[in-house]
Amino acid sequence: MVPTAVDTDLSPAVTSTKVSTKNENAEAFTTNELPNGQYLLDRNLNKNYPVVVRGDGNYLFLEDGRRIFDTSSGAAVSCLGHNEKRVIEQMNKQLDTGVPYIPSLFYRHRLVDQLCEHMIRDTDHKMKKVYLTGSGSEAMEATIKLARQYFWESNKETKRVNFIARQSSYHGNTIGALGISGHAGRRAPYLPFLMDNVEHISDCNPYRQRLVGESNEHFVERKAAELEAKFQELGPDTVIGFIMEPIVGAAMGCVPYVPGYMKAMREVCHRHGALFILDEVMCGMGRTGTLHAWQAEDVVPDLQTVGKGLGGGYQPIAAVYISEKVVNTVTNGSGQFIHGQTYQAMPVQASAALAVQTLKRDLDLVTNVRMQGKYLEKLLKEKLADHPNVGDIRGLGLFWGLEFVKDKENKIPFGSSQAIAQKIHDLAISEPHNIVLYPGTGCAGGVSGDHVMICPAYIVQSDDIEVIANTTASVVRSFFENLDA
Ligand SMILES: Cc1ncc(COP(=O)(O)O)c(C=O)c1O
Repeated sequence: MVPTAVDTDLSPAVTSTKVSTKNENAEAFTTNELPNGQYLLDRNLNKNYPVVVRGDGNYLFLEDGRRIFDTSSGAAVSCLGHNEKRVIEQMNKQLDTGVPYIPSLFYRHRLVDQLCEHMIRDTDHKMKKVYLTGSGSEAMEATIKLARQYFWESNKETKRVNFIARQSSYHGNTIGALGISGHAGRRAPYLPFLMDNVEHISDCNPYRQRLVGESNEHFVERKAAELEAKFQELGPDTVIGFIMEPIVGAAMGCVPYVPGYMKAMREVCHRHGALFILDEVMCGMGRTGTLHAWQAEDVVPDLQTVGKGLGGGYQPIAAVYISEKVVNTVTNGSGQFIHGQTYQAMPVQASAALAVQTLKRDLDLVTNVRMQGKYLEKLLKEKLADHPNVGDIRGLGLFWGLEFVKDKENKIPFGSSQAIAQKIHDLAISEPHNIVLYPGTGCAGGVSGDHVMICPAYIVQSDDIEVIANTTASVVRSFFENLDA
């Protein structure tokens, strides 16, 4: 029988968040040895980024001696915090076998089997199979191809060539995933290369789109009618599927679905035989208070991606969940997914992800996400709802966004050249605040609109939440007090 849990001591103590201020490795990383500007991985080539030397629990320690409260879990990744020994132990155990990698073309590995079994069990077997990749963008690329293959298997001349996605959305930076994405700023330089068989309908953003006095039901009806109209415009039998993030992360700053929205959108897709596809790379794996965002309303997708919170930053790993109908069609057709990459389903990736998922379950961390998330919502709203430049505070679980506006009454955003969100992040990560407010733009129609995201690790306790809310409030107040009009 295949074992179902990582063979380790998963005692219910969460990694201590007590930290030492000693930088044990600081000597090893001097600025002489690590000169700035050598690495293209720095996104902004003109910027001096702080140098990290170690991590522990909620904290990252910098070469300059400062301690940063990682209130964004990096890019909503480090869901168990840093230096979780029980994950590292499992990775080391796997490395000690001499097999960090095996080609998934030729072999299976028990840890990979166990991880997939664990993941399927956590959907209550509502999804049938898991396809592992190395990043969220790769998972989206695989999803785009698998969705097309689903129709191609039963009809090689299928007319299904179109995807429908949403305007303010982000699904990854590779050409296919960016083609699906609606993020105008990130698409702009690459437009000539992006797929032209993707149509974008409006996203689901009650702050900016709800009519005065409009009920959720009516709002959802309008959205479903818009999707239906897009199917009719394209020809319903040309559409492969509709792709959406249940809670929009980077593109909008944690805007959740309106109750009933996912179900209504799925109904439209299924009425026309198309696939309903969820991108949970950022909002999934417990981040919003259920393991999968769709579980909150039991709206099972046909295909679903996950990423960041799967490996929690301990290994690069993401995945596509595949429903029974897609599995059966491919199985009864060619019998293979016409895809594959070198680095996927590695035993060392599986060891990390399995340990992260097992800890989440055994320590009941998703319940903690719900509980601490409610407290964070309460405090953020108490402290910032009245601020003249905070237009909206929205989110779910430990996934919260603040949208900033120049004119609150008319919801007018700041000019994009003012780089408000980036500057708020720069202030937050500096002394004396030392927190991370993950900046983003485009929430007010694609290019303008500034937001920051707050998405701490699932191990936070109520005193951590108080620090996050108080510090965020003082960063925001201090920033706008000192902003030249
Ligand atoms: C919703 C969503 N989809 C896909 C991706 C792409 O994932 P990755 O950066 O791992 O390629 C991201 C990354 O932020 C994301 O937020």
